[in-house]
Amino acid sequence: MDIQKLLSQMTLQEKLGQLTQVNAVFFKPDNTADITGPVSLLGIEESDALYCGSTLNFIGAKDMKKIQDIAMAAQPHGIPLLFMQDVIHGYRTIYPIPLGMGCTFDEELVEECARMAGKEAAVSGVHVTFSPMLDLVRDARWGRVMESTGEDPFLNGRLGAAFVRGYQGDKLQGKYDIAACVKHFAAYGAPEAGRDYNAVELSEHTLRESYLPGYRACIDAGVEMIMPSFNTVGGVPSTCNRLLLDKILRREWAFDGIVISDYNAYREMVKHGVAEDDKHAAELAIGAGCDIEMMSATAYLHGEELLAEGRLTMEQIDRAVLRVLELKDRLGLFENPYRVANEQEEAELHLCPAHRALARRAAEEASVLLKNENVLPFSKNAKKIAVIGPFAKEKGIKGFWACAGRDEDCVTVLAGVRALLPDAEVASVKGCSWEIGETEVPELDEAIELASEADAVVLCLGEYQEHSGEGNSRATLTLSPAQMTLARAVLKHNKNTAAVIFGGRPLVLTDLAEIAPAMLYVWQPGTEGGNAVARLLFGDANPSGKLSMSFPYAEGQCPIYYSRMNTGRPVEDPKVVSKRPYRSRYLDAPVLPLYPFGHGLSYNTYTYDNFTVSDDKITPDTPLEIAVTVKNEGQYQGKETVQLYIHDKFASVARPLLELKDFVKLELAPGESAAVIFTLTEEDLRFHTLDGTFASERGEFEVFVGPNSDQLMGATVYLEK
Ligand code: NOJ
Repeated sequence: MDIQKLLSQMTLQEKLGQLTQVNAVFFKPDNTADITGPVSLLGIEESDALYCGSTLNFIGAKDMKKIQDIAMAAQPHGIPLLFMQDVIHGYRTIYPIPLGMGCTFDEELVEECARMAGKEAAVSGVHVTFSPMLDLVRDARWGRVMESTGEDPFLNGRLGAAFVRGYQGDKLQGKYDIAACVKHFAAYGAPEAGRDYNAVELSEHTLRESYLPGYRACIDAGVEMIMPSFNTVGGVPSTCNRLLLDKILRREWAFDGIVISDYNAYREMVKHGVAEDDKHAAELAIGAGCDIEMMSATAYLHGEELLAEGRLTMEQIDRAVLRVLELKDRLGLFENPYRVANEQEEAELHLCPAHRALARRAAEEASVLLKNENVLPFSKNAKKIAVIGPFAKEKGIKGFWACAGRDEDCVTVLAGVRALLPDAEVASVKGCSWEIGETEVPELDEAIELASEADAVVLCLGEYQEHSGEGNSRATLTLSPAQMTLARAVLKHNKNTAAVIFGGRPLVLTDLAEIAPAMLYVWQPGTEGGNAVARLLFGDANPSGKLSMSFPYAEGQCPIYYSRMNTGRPVEDPKVVSKRPYRSRYLDAPVLPLYPFGHGLSYNTYTYDNFTVSDDKITPDTPLEIAVTVKNEGQYQGKETVQLYIHDKFASVARPLLELKDFVKLELAPGESAAVIFTLTEEDLRFHTLDGTFASERGEFEVFVGPNSDQLMGATVYLEK
């Protein structure tokens, strides 16, 4: 398609239409009521909606084709629509929430899952997914931590790039590849007080040092689109933030893909108080570098006046339209507007056995064994098994942002245990609801009776899928009084109990950890959740997940993360409550979280030996080799993620006590050992120095290797320059 020629033939209205995205409901052939509703809220007519260049929130190939037909017939040049959707952790077959995927520390698995999601989405007519979400998350109060891969810039970057490769393949060449959109640029994960959409205050140093690398890794991986965040950063909404969108994104990173606003974010700038009115909002957003406006029509309505008044230029509009048309062209939409949307393939692929198997494997690898005092794995010879708690029979375990996923497709824990052990007597009682703050346990007696008689008890606790996700911040992160009452009663009557905890964020589990001998955190595990949990509990699968986000000891520690600064007055032992005054301490909690970044147990013990560093000096020309031998001392096949950290002891700006620099996930048979050799270069030691350059500074560094951020062996090396 000759895009330039097409552009030259388009009217201004058509061009502005290409820069506007509306909900698919506006195009629904058989629903005029819907059309006149939301359309009028946008201030446009039904006929205008048909000019729009892209749409979101439709489900299925059949609808997609109808909508495409309607849109193309109305668009004067027959330009096809781009169909976008939030395919975040699966399309119909749902794998664990991204925070769980972060705990897999497995780039290949993430890539495979993204490819599977992309394929299911593509046959349903999706061209672009609003994923991956790469906001750095360090405050569990924020409900959207579930969408991120975690608290570490390096891990996020590696997994973010894997998501992009999975969706986009090799530059969208593959039949089922779809375009990816990294979001929410920038620092949406650091809202004040953990409250969604709230203001973000960060120095440019911290922004660049910690918050930007994840997005940047996706740009380097060739992501097609990026979405600015809703929030303000230093008082300026990202949607019109020239530092972010112009200076950093377009100039420093040379990103030439599409910038799409978040939902209604142009208009929300009026609420933020930085745009006088809708017209001004369009001027600010396009002026800063936005291309597509999602779910408002300020540019469409006011573009002509803004051009006439010299507040926008035709060059700006044309450049944005070109980007949209080029993506449509790269996706082959001008030749085949339906692309691979296909009802028959939908029926074949959605929830097919191969996809379910992958989702189950992902759910197994995402689960983190937080604690285990000789309880797990349960014996498969158990005759009587009790599955107790509000999540025992709960099908709502797919998690927020599950796209076309349905609760009814999900396998419950009870169903999973029954399927795995068909000859056992498996009984279940809910005990209480999962409501936040619930105090009543209506089925306490039944739960006690069941627990007392059982050989093994699976206690299913946690938070519901709608208690995290967009708009769902929490000020308390503990289990409800009812869930704790139930847990105490069950544990009093049967010590052979494992708590299986569902959550969209790290919950505060300090009280439960005091009484429960075993705790398996399964996040919102998705379609195959119950099967994965059963296999983990009874030893058909071996837990290997490692936390990609710290679990606070108490809410008051938030934000909390392993990569903290030392302060001038550190406590002697951050694991206990310090008694010394004038220290950086809490009077009622330790400094460290309950479970640190990187923590996660297995049914095996892995020993770390032969730690060696090739030299005590590192220079720009001579990298270091850091080696360790890891041995599986247990009886099970298992996976272990070996982590490499550094600490820059002295620099022009204070450096974190630890920074993850690499990791390797090993698979070891019982008795097997493997040597891991990390290479650390001078480039790995660079940071944003006091004068703003990205460079390393000579001096002492510590290098550490270990199974998590709290159990490390280390050595000191000197960087010579
Ligand atoms: C709002 C969310 O912030 C964003 O992540 C999502 O992609 C859009 N809505 C579209 O659904």
